[in-house]
Amino acid sequence: MDISVVNALTYDDFVKIFGNVVEKCPLISAAIWSHRPFKDLADIETHITEFIDSLPDSGKEGILRCHPDLAGRDLQSGTLTHESQEEQSQAGLTTLDSAEILRMYRLNSQYKERFGFPFVICARMNKKADILRQLSDRLQNERALEREQAIEEVKKICSLRLHNIVLSDIQTKL
Ligand code: GUN
Repeated sequence: MDISVVNALTYDDFVKIFGNVVEKCPLISAAIWSHRPFKDLADIETHITEFIDSLPDSGKEGILRCHPDLAGRDLQSGTLTHESQEEQSQAGLTTLDSAEILRMYRLNSQYKERFGFPFVICARMNKKADILRQLSDRLQNERALEREQAIEEVKKICSLRLHNIVLSDIQTKL
């Protein structure tokens, strides 16, 4: 896909296609629309990163709260977004046994109790064992450090989702 195709999209189509590059945060795509025309994909990514970095801590935590728990209720009930479903599946989280689901549930609950937002990690870059290890490691962090680490993971997820869109045929998304 050429960047000129992206720049020619209507606002509605742009948000339809890019609205979930940050999980359940179409506001971000709506906001960066103001920066058109984009030079290239990296330019879109830079605007998203700058937008996220410009938010106050409460806004960053709001972004984190838009994410479902990994291997959580939405996965069990089939209500994940298409992107999250694919990522959790690639990480091996859709085939956990009941002991692993329970471990994940307990750690996710402790994490949310401590920080007030769900644990976010770039699932496509990690397998289930790394995810469980990082979940228990990051539980030890101070809140400010953890918020920043989690936001860096959001940016990685966003980057992979953007590349996925560009690699796929944009017409099929409209
Ligand atoms: N990592 C990649 N996708 C997701 C997601 O949907 N939720 C969480 N918590 N982490 C993710």
